[in-house]
Amino acid sequence: MNSLHFLCTTLATPSAQPRSSTRPFFAKPSHFITHARRNHRLQVSCNTSDQNQNVENPERKGKVDRRNILLGLGGLYGAANLVSSPEASANPIQAPQLDKCGVATNLNNGKQLDINCCPPLGENIIDYRLPPVFQMKIRPSAHRVTPEYIFKFNMAMDRMRRLPKDDPRCFMQQANIHCAYCNGAYDQPGQGTLDLQVHNSWLFFPFHRWYLYFYERILGKLIGDPTFALPFWNWDNPKGMTIPPMYLDPKAAIYDPKRNQDNLKAVIDLGMTGNKDPLQVVANNLTIMYSEMIRSNTDVYDFMGQPYREGTGVNPGPGASERGSHVAIHVFVGDPREPSGENLGNFYSAGRDPLFYCHHSNVDRMWSLWQYFLPSNKVPDKRITDPDFLNASFLFYDENAQLVRVTVKDSLDNLRMGYDFERVDLPWLDYRPPPQTARARITRTSSTAPMAAALFPLNLDGIVRFQVPKAKKGKADELLVLENITVDTTKFLKFDVFVNDEDDNVMELDKAAYAGTYAQVPHKTSNKSATTSIRLKLTDLYDDMDVGDDDTVVVTLVPRHQGPGVTIGGIKIIEAPPKATTPPSS
Ligand code: C2O
Repeated sequence: MNSLHFLCTTLATPSAQPRSSTRPFFAKPSHFITHARRNHRLQVSCNTSDQNQNVENPERKGKVDRRNILLGLGGLYGAANLVSSPEASANPIQAPQLDKCGVATNLNNGKQLDINCCPPLGENIIDYRLPPVFQMKIRPSAHRVTPEYIFKFNMAMDRMRRLPKDDPRCFMQQANIHCAYCNGAYDQPGQGTLDLQVHNSWLFFPFHRWYLYFYERILGKLIGDPTFALPFWNWDNPKGMTIPPMYLDPKAAIYDPKRNQDNLKAVIDLGMTGNKDPLQVVANNLTIMYSEMIRSNTDVYDFMGQPYREGTGVNPGPGASERGSHVAIHVFVGDPREPSGENLGNFYSAGRDPLFYCHHSNVDRMWSLWQYFLPSNKVPDKRITDPDFLNASFLFYDENAQLVRVTVKDSLDNLRMGYDFERVDLPWLDYRPPPQTARARITRTSSTAPMAAALFPLNLDGIVRFQVPKAKKGKADELLVLENITVDTTKFLKFDVFVNDEDDNVMELDKAAYAGTYAQVPHKTSNKSATTSIRLKLTDLYDDMDVGDDDTVVVTLVPRHQGPGVTIGGIKIIEAPPKATTPPSS
């Protein structure tokens, strides 16, 4: 173990050579991601040559003829790809106006708590241009880092904590970025009091990527090491399925006392089933990873999250990864002794735990793997080409405390942003649950379960089983759609979906009957409730089960939270839409 550990961690030091062209020699080659093999696309620059000092960009104001924008993008991405957009375009979400930042709110035991998490006002805004990459930063797996890395990382975090309170790069200002963008401090510019929210939509991955990008650069600057790379919490691998030990040292600058004390050394439970058998929990975790990365997604929006444009209400729909493993880690670490699960367990406070950035580094890695590593026969279309996605923008302070405007389109490629991830095994990649054979019992139960139409709309406060008509007989390509899921945003909520579950052991997810998950991290928005929809692909599930010629399937919904908070408007099975045009690989 020690010698292997030594080899791994040697490679993990940030000063090690970039591994994009070398393959670590201690592992099976087929199990390593090879980001380097992917092709680079044409570079898209958002830079306007004027380095404008608060000059309004007419494109962002929607004053430019949108056909020109479409044409311009078409030249880069191929106009045909635009047909994959599910709705007509409106306008992209614009970066917030810092001078209009208001109080963020949270509910503490039903009482409203106002929080000021607004950033300092910047003098001028510069449109950010990605700097040329001279040396690739390699983010290490947090369980495999060297003592030297831990020392450096803590030194950087310590310096960040010591920066003056009004420095936008200091620890609390950085933590507050999350609060401001997630708990209702900003309104969408020009849209009255409509909240700006970066979760539960296609902005989830790009926003957090930019957030970590500047966090990492600030830390690097504070220790004079431009190669410094944040660690990632490798929770998708059994070897990373505990809180990374370096975060548990109470004397460390990366320590946070507000964590669930029962979970400090526990195996993470991505399914939140409460199962106490660690081996079963690991099996559940790998099944969840396989499901949210591969099995349950039909198109790019199922993975990335649903379109969120100017004027869209918050919460159009989280992607599979966001509502699955991502939420689970927040809730697993959040401290139940605190009124709102602080720190990681609530969006307003999540950025106050240094572990947040390690968690999100792995979330970011999932996006990168999904785009550049998962084979296209497993993952449908990989790119969103909608201009309202590509042109959405955010504001951040960079490592020099300069206020910059960044766009989603500049965040699509982590290599272009100058960082990659240490290569580690992906044990979930082929973790397809075993086929279910016996259908005798489910057939008997299905005749007694009520039809869905009789139950919906449904307040989900206990396990419920019902029948849903199939769209076609037999093993067709079908999607299970849960519509108008109305949630109380201030609560942790989660439920799992099973189809034709024969044994009803809801503590085990590693079976063909597990279809997917909905979950959310508590946060407060001006409107306490939000309505969303999710869809789950059933193709593989049918393949692994004997659905035969049945006209209906039996769906079981299993809430993992206590009490009320979720209402589901309707449920139906539809035929999978014809395959969206896949962008040509460039
Ligand atoms: Cu912005 Cu994990 O949350």
